[in-house]
Amino acid sequence: QPTIPFTFTLFGATGDLSMRKILPALFVAHREGKLHQDGRIICVAKQDFSQEDYLAWVSKSAIPYVKSGVDEAHWQGFLARITYLPLDLLDRPGYQVLADALAASKAVSVFYLATSPALFEPICANLAASGIDLSQARLVLEKPLGHDLLSSRAINDAVARVFAEDQIYRIDHYLGKEAVQNLLALRFANSLFEPLWRRESVAHVQLTIAEQLGVEGRGEFYDATGAMRDMVQNHLLQLLCMVAMEPPTSLDADAVRDEKLRVLRALKPFSAEDMELKAVRGQYVAGAVDDKSVAAYRQEPGVGAESQTETFVALHAEINNWRWAGVPFFLRTGKRLAQRTAEIVITFRPIPHAILPMPGGLAGGSSNRLVIRLQPDESIQLHCLAKQPGDGMTVQPVALDLAFDQAFKQRRAEAYERLLLDAIRGNLSLFVRRDEQEAAWRWVEPLLRHWQASSSPPKPYMAGSWGPTASFAMMARAGAQWPEDR
Ligand code: BG6
Repeated sequence: QPTIPFTFTLFGATGDLSMRKILPALFVAHREGKLHQDGRIICVAKQDFSQEDYLAWVSKSAIPYVKSGVDEAHWQGFLARITYLPLDLLDRPGYQVLADALAASKAVSVFYLATSPALFEPICANLAASGIDLSQARLVLEKPLGHDLLSSRAINDAVARVFAEDQIYRIDHYLGKEAVQNLLALRFANSLFEPLWRRESVAHVQLTIAEQLGVEGRGEFYDATGAMRDMVQNHLLQLLCMVAMEPPTSLDADAVRDEKLRVLRALKPFSAEDMELKAVRGQYVAGAVDDKSVAAYRQEPGVGAESQTETFVALHAEINNWRWAGVPFFLRTGKRLAQRTAEIVITFRPIPHAILPMPGGLAGGSSNRLVIRLQPDESIQLHCLAKQPGDGMTVQPVALDLAFDQAFKQRRAEAYERLLLDAIRGNLSLFVRRDEQEAAWRWVEPLLRHWQASSSPPKPYMAGSWGPTASFAMMARAGAQWPEDR
């Protein structure tokens, strides 16, 4: 279904995010016939490009990021939607040109702020002052939305002076991933799992987002940010919400977001003791990823030689509610790890009594695991024990395996494509509400403060490993293991 007519104004249109994600995603949506023919893209940035030069720049910079490749006819058709508007985003009178461009159209306006968050306030204020009719407009915000609770509130307050909450689309691109939405289908379109989806049956839950990449030219930004703010506060906590939330009454945006918020509010705060025993931060030193030598984090351009910024985090979280009390939720993310993988592993409790010889003894019964894999491929695996063919009754682990690329032949949209189309169509379900975002900050902030004040540095780990040994020790204390330690 093509969208409704729209004008998509992209602020920060010469930046990295626009070239790597936003314009490629819009192009694919265009090629797939998902953009209404009256859909225009106004690209705004400070540089004084002519229209021609900007389009040439887009062709050079964005095409390499269209994973499925580009054909000339569709590309030219896509470029024809784009108008470049050079504008100093702080120059209020300059917005008049944008106001004139938008005034002529009845299409829905989507403003995408792919800029530094420091510009969110002036952009919103300038849009309002320019007299553009914003009553039906939508505003899409990119992370990082603040550095802590206070700064995120300041951004949200500034934006709220101009846009109502139901006009604001806070992107967490993990919510746009097909496998994450599939989690909703798995949980709420099947009767099989829900009765087991609770403390009585689940031993623990693991959520891992492991990257092989380092900081990729973003050293300065990353060094002021760290893995907790870059990945845990948003992506990992959103995944945790999708796993742990109660069934919403419908897929309405607020029905889903209310349930996610309840999970975030039920997260058990870290006590002083937990901060030592249930939280690990690490930083990579030189090593090899896929047999290629890579430099230490502190050697990356833009990173301080004495940097204490974490590039790895492992946490043992708990959710204080009836469904999950006492069930560990292990969260882990890091740069320069051994593999690129994102997965959710739900490990079920062992059987109470063995009548068959169990590999690994009784606890081997907890080889019942549900593995939901988001990356690099999308799959769901249910690990069970089955009898080996032949004499005797020896059992061994096997997996019921659903690989999405085999089960479904349809093309699966990339996260940004899905989210941009949702923003144009006005569907807020996969966007983060202000209260969710602030609840997530409230939970991570004490730990961030503790680390900042701590005299012990992040634990070193070799690039290409699975993180510091302290992360394995944290699991062992809870009687669990990361998959690669099994
Ligand atoms: C971004 C982070 O939000 O997510 C990056 O800022 C990270 O540091 C990226 O690399 C990971 O996303 P994905 O979709 O590649 O797993």
